[in-house]
Amino acid sequence: MDARVDTLQERHTVAVVDDNVTNLKIARSILDAHYDTYAVPSAKVLFDMLEKITPDLILLDIEMPEMSGYEAIKKLKSDARFRFIPVIFLTSRNDEGSELEGLSLGAIDYVTKPFSAALLLRRIGNHLLIAEQKKELESYNKNLAERVNEKTSQILKLQFGILNVIAELVEFRDRKTGGHIGRTQRYLELLVKRMLKDGIYNDEVSSWDLTFLIPSAQLHDVGKIAISDTILNKPGKLTPEEFDIMKTHVTKGVEAIERIEEETQEHSFLHHAKCFAGYHHEKWDGTGYPNGLAGENIPLQGRLMAIADVYDALISARPYKDPMPLEVARDIILDGRGKHFDPTLIDVFEDVVGGFEEIAETSRNHGDSFIFKWNEPA
Ligand SMILES: [Fe+2]
Repeated sequence: MDARVDTLQERHTVAVVDDNVTNLKIARSILDAHYDTYAVPSAKVLFDMLEKITPDLILLDIEMPEMSGYEAIKKLKSDARFRFIPVIFLTSRNDEGSELEGLSLGAIDYVTKPFSAALLLRRIGNHLLIAEQKKELESYNKNLAERVNEKTSQILKLQFGILNVIAELVEFRDRKTGGHIGRTQRYLELLVKRMLKDGIYNDEVSSWDLTFLIPSAQLHDVGKIAISDTILNKPGKLTPEEFDIMKTHVTKGVEAIERIEEETQEHSFLHHAKCFAGYHHEKWDGTGYPNGLAGENIPLQGRLMAIADVYDALISARPYKDPMPLEVARDIILDGRGKHFDPTLIDVFEDVVGGFEEIAETSRNHGDSFIFKWNEPA
């Protein structure tokens, strides 16, 4: 910064480190008019001073007893609290090797004695200006990053908000499944967290971001929006023709999610949603729908949702059936090992079934309309 301008603003602080008292006096006589100057007789005293005062710039001699200027700058640059302070070597060593060494160690400039007072002031001014601009740039970048984070969080909140509303709309239309969407998310969370803990299907599961995975499960039955009320809410068993129509909720759901994908170019989040919607009625033995996929050809999300979805249907009341006792539901799911369900995932289910039962009980105690909300990101 220009010395004249500097006097009008808050004065900068410059520390001059030199073991020679005469040199310190000369430096002060030049700098005092422009800067708050600290005359520091050794590198050790400099570090004591730094515990209390952080100068805006350091002028550093090289040859000093106890700790040389080179050692001092190494120490300064290795400490996160001080590494940003610009250092100028002020020395009588005028050989190329010393200058190169000084600059390599992180000094921003190298001035040899005897020096011109005007030139030294100009160099200090320039380096202070650069340091100031660097600080401004860093603060601007930090600000920008904060604003981007804030906007991203707003978009996520909007995304989760819309998702919740869609899920509630599906639930509202499909009146017989009160609380189903919320509960299936919770079952899924239990299964996936256990898989992460035990390293099951780890290559795939460890690549999932649960913040996105669990809420996207809400869309597994989104295609039901396109199914007529007479079929969706029929108070009895569906005819084979009606069941065929009901089955189309899977492909209709996938189509709806693909339309959102085309519009938004968002893939990571909707990819999970598409897997949940498209494969939750496939069965491990290949007898499911819509594609009759078998084994690991069924995406893992679909194999997981099959367990959560069927378990919840079993423990829930329907116009044509009472809710099953939890232990009966548990046995039916266990019995589906290798037939309806992935045997590896049934092992996981067995480990966490207590958690499933807790969720079911809590939901029953709060009534069917009780909906569990996934903890959305703050
Ligand atoms: Fe379904």
